[in-house]
Amino acid sequence: MSSVQTAEDNNPRKYQLLIDGQWVDAESGKTFTTPNPATGETLAEVAEADKADIDKAVAAARRAYEGKWSKLSARDRGRLLYKLSQLLEEHSAELAAIETADNGKPIKESSYVDLPQVVENFEYFAGWATKIEGETIPVPGRMFNYTLREPIGVCGQIIPWNFPLLMAAWKLAPALAAGNTVVLKPAEQTPVGAMELGKLILEAGFPEGVVNIVPGYGETAGASLAAHPGIDKVAFTGSTEVGKLIAKAAAENLTKVSLELGGKAPNIVFADSDLDQAVAGAMMGIFYNQGQVCCAGSRLFVEEKVKDEFVSRLSEKADKIAVGDPMNKATQMGPQVSEEQLNRIKGYVDIAKSEGATVITGGESPKLDGEFQNGYFFRPTIFGDVKNKMRVAQEEIFGPVVSVISFTDEDDLIKQANDTIYGLSAGIWTRDITRAHRFAKEIKAGVVWINTYNMFNAASPFGGYKQSGYGREMGRHALDLYTQIKSVWVDLSGRPIGWFGK
Ligand code: NAI
Ligand code: MG
Repeated sequence: MSSVQTAEDNNPRKYQLLIDGQWVDAESGKTFTTPNPATGETLAEVAEADKADIDKAVAAARRAYEGKWSKLSARDRGRLLYKLSQLLEEHSAELAAIETADNGKPIKESSYVDLPQVVENFEYFAGWATKIEGETIPVPGRMFNYTLREPIGVCGQIIPWNFPLLMAAWKLAPALAAGNTVVLKPAEQTPVGAMELGKLILEAGFPEGVVNIVPGYGETAGASLAAHPGIDKVAFTGSTEVGKLIAKAAAENLTKVSLELGGKAPNIVFADSDLDQAVAGAMMGIFYNQGQVCCAGSRLFVEEKVKDEFVSRLSEKADKIAVGDPMNKATQMGPQVSEEQLNRIKGYVDIAKSEGATVITGGESPKLDGEFQNGYFFRPTIFGDVKNKMRVAQEEIFGPVVSVISFTDEDDLIKQANDTIYGLSAGIWTRDITRAHRFAKEIKAGVVWINTYNMFNAASPFGGYKQSGYGREMGRHALDLYTQIKSVWVDLSGRPIGWFGK
């Protein structure tokens, strides 16, 4: 029997909070609803956590941390994570449909990218549980010094709506592998996947309180989690603006922090690149997931000599993107996640025009029929005549909107590419390997893609330079975020130390 409510079941879903292994209502009794962004219809009614529920969840996570979870062997932790990855794989078709209903991303993406990567992350970190080791240090004298790599404790994790389940996986998998317990707050726009994940976490057999899931709003549930004196670490993915609030709140208790924030990535096309590859890569860079990607290639620098040809090929292809019902397998772009995000994007179209940029294509919502006319759709949009100083080239738009900036000189290009508060990712398209690696060295970004874009793997670290955040998720580096080092000194001489006892 399936533990996951299927996507075809059209009754609004109902979810409670997951605290201490139990499904419970919010203390306030409050709930909120979340729409399907393709239609605006209510998808789910969800218990709304606020401070009182966060207190309960943190207390449960603490009990689990001090109790059953710390007594489990690393092997058993790994086995639970692996079991969870298998359950996720078994249910991936249903979960992909749920993710699409909740977020609006095309079913093709949720089925072939999000869910496989969710499974991969739990599987990958399952393997790490038994490989977290300390070191012995060659200290002088008759002394033995070794380190223990221990979990940090109770982790508050606040995640966004653009890859709801995948962001949950990036956060939960390394934290649990390392032996921490978690209070996870999904985004208010997309709580459904996390609640279904909660069912599978219980089914996998994690002890109660190890993972608590508390959907609610950022200003209430999120803020009280970040400021909670009972958590040892807060991990956040979202806007740079809120990242700063989190860091400030955490500073009060010196809670450890990792942040994965916004971006305004340069995606750079040289005239010597394979233009077919570069056009496809520019599209993958900005239209994937409706442009709601922190590492989106939103500043498209194109070498002047190929700019006209490149832009005409790009806009011709952008106009052919199938925008519509995200449940349709042929759809390439679904709706934006919310009306708020849609309006934000529309606002940037006005800003672009007022700054002197031109709309080469898009710039408005498509006309869709029937149930989709109330969805939050936006057309693939290309701005031309953009200067890097303009707001549309400096601020994260988080939509299918790319700014084309032309360049002639490589040194000047690097300066412009680095002229941003962000430093999450960058792309370059060229056949010149010297130039490609020179760029990789000189760009200030946490991830660089050469003749490719948006490549991810659970084993490869991801995170930002500058105001794109701190810490690296995925790969072995993610374990640094969820472990702390204890140095242990042992006397081997059997003699009193120092001169006080003489
Ligand atoms: P946001 O940063 O407000 O929301 C992300 C998460 O933080 C959600 O779970 C939210 O409930 C929580 N949150 C919000 N305010 C909080 C607070 N004061 N304390 C603790 N938690 C809080 O992002 P939002 O408003 O949904 O989107 C605004 C912009 O942020 C987007 O247009 C985009 O530019 C950027 N963004 C970047 C993301 C990324 O992956 N780097 C993901 C989502 C948004
Ligand atoms: Mg916000």
